[in-house]
Formats: sequence, structure tokens, C-alpha cells
Amino acid sequence: MSDPLIEFDDRDLAAQRAVKHLRGLVIDKDTIRRLLSEARTHNAWHERDVPDETLRSIHDLMQKGPTSANGSPARLVFLQSDDAKERLRPALTPGNVEKTMSAPVTAILGYDIEFWRNADVTFPHKPEVQTAYQEKPEASETVAFRNSSLQGAYLIIASRAHDLDCGPMSGFDNKLVDLEFFAGTTIKSNLLCNLGYGDADRLLKRSPRLGFDMVCEIL
Ligand SMILES: Cc1cc2nc3c(=O)[nH]c(=O)nc-3n(C[C@H](O)[C@H](O)[C@H](O)COP(=O)(O)O)c2cc1C
Repeated sequence: MSDPLIEFDDRDLAAQRAVKHLRGLVIDKDTIRRLLSEARTHNAWHERDVPDETLRSIHDLMQKGPTSANGSPARLVFLQSDDAKERLRPALTPGNVEKTMSAPVTAILGYDIEFWRNADVTFPHKPEVQTAYQEKPEASETVAFRNSSLQGAYLIIASRAHDLDCGPMSGFDNKLVDLEFFAGTTIKSNLLCNLGYGDADRLLKRSPRLGFDMVCEIL
């Protein structure tokens, strides 16, 4: 149904047509198994590098996931070299050291508490929706943390879509990571995520999830 109050330009109309093609596309069962229903968190890794091109492609995909007012607060540092990993080591909880040091890549996912500085790029038709946060630093940080956490989930799904496995981690000292990797910036660390080709032979059984009736209500 057309909205008489909105004047759509050619790019709006093209965007509408593009989305209509998606309705009813078949998502095959194997894809769902690979992305979510059977994919596991990995702690041990095959010695197989992840090409930089793959990391770029994962980023291209993850940043398509929605964030509020398209604020896109996540910032990523991919640690690949031994030197870079060593800089992270002191911040890791003991149980996370070995799995991180042996992972082909460890992503530090941070969030920019001044994400609104990119409003001209990310919300050009109404940048003031984002720049209003300039006056509300506390709210800005909450929004940045919330949306970067979502982007962390998109990172996991996008990585699995590239046939990689993930090992997300919050067991680290955020302050140390911020000092080592984000000093002098407005970026704070949210979570870490090991990326690579997981060694399935080292997996333990999966922990049960909560049932619908335990955690959901339909009102
Ligand atoms: C935000 C987040 C933080 C996590 N932190 C750690 C961690 O510090 N160390 C660890 O070994 N696993 C960590 N995990 C892994 C979880 O325990 C694991 O994803 C969960 O048990 C589900 O496992 P499954 O995907 O194999 O079913 C974390 C996962 C998430 C999503």
C-alpha cells in the first residue's frame, strides 16, 4: 500500500523491488543447521589460516544486520599474528588463553561510544537522530553497547556463513584490552571471538537450551 505522506525516489523504489524478491525464497535446512541449529561454539582449532579476504567478506555481511538508526557502533580488530595475540594474552582469563592463542584469528569486537560521528554516512537523510546522542553520553554508550552486541551475533552468523567456526568470549579484562588496543580512542571492548576451522574431535556435548514455556510468553 502506498503512503501518501512519503515521496519515494528512484532508489527507494529500487530498494522496495529488491526486498519483494526475498519473500518466499527457500532457506534450505542444511543452511539453518550450519548457521544456527547445529553449529557449535569451538575451543580447539585446525591449523588453517583464514585469508584476509574472508575477514573482509565476513565484515561486509555482518554490517548488513540492523542496528538502531543504522548507528553501526561495532569496531573490529582482527588479531592474526603471534605478536598481536601476545598483546592480548595478559587480558585473558586463564581458561581462555590456550584456545585464543591457537585460534587462526581472534576478533576484538568493540563499540564506539561516539558512533554518531558517522551519522552523515550511516543516516544521511536524518543525521540528527544519531547526533542527538552527542548531548547524552550515557544513553549513547548504552545504545552503542546494545547494538554492538547485536553486531557480535551477526559476526557469528556471518562467519558461519563463510564456513568458519566461532568461539565467542567475555572472559577477559576489558580495561586491559581497552588500554592495549583502543587507547586514545572512543572505542571500548565488548567481546572477543575466536575464528577459524574448529576441531570437532575436541567438542563436548552441547548444553541444553531452555524450552519455550520456560522463557517465553505470548500475550
Ligand atoms: C558473549 C559470550 C561470551 C562467552 N564467554 C566465554 C568465555 O569467556 N570462555 C569460554 O570458554 N566460552 C565462552 N562463551 C561460550 C559459551 O559458553 C558457549 O557459546 C555456549 O555454552 C553455547 O555453546 P554451543 O554453541 O556449543 O552450544 C561465551 C559465549 C558468548 C556468546
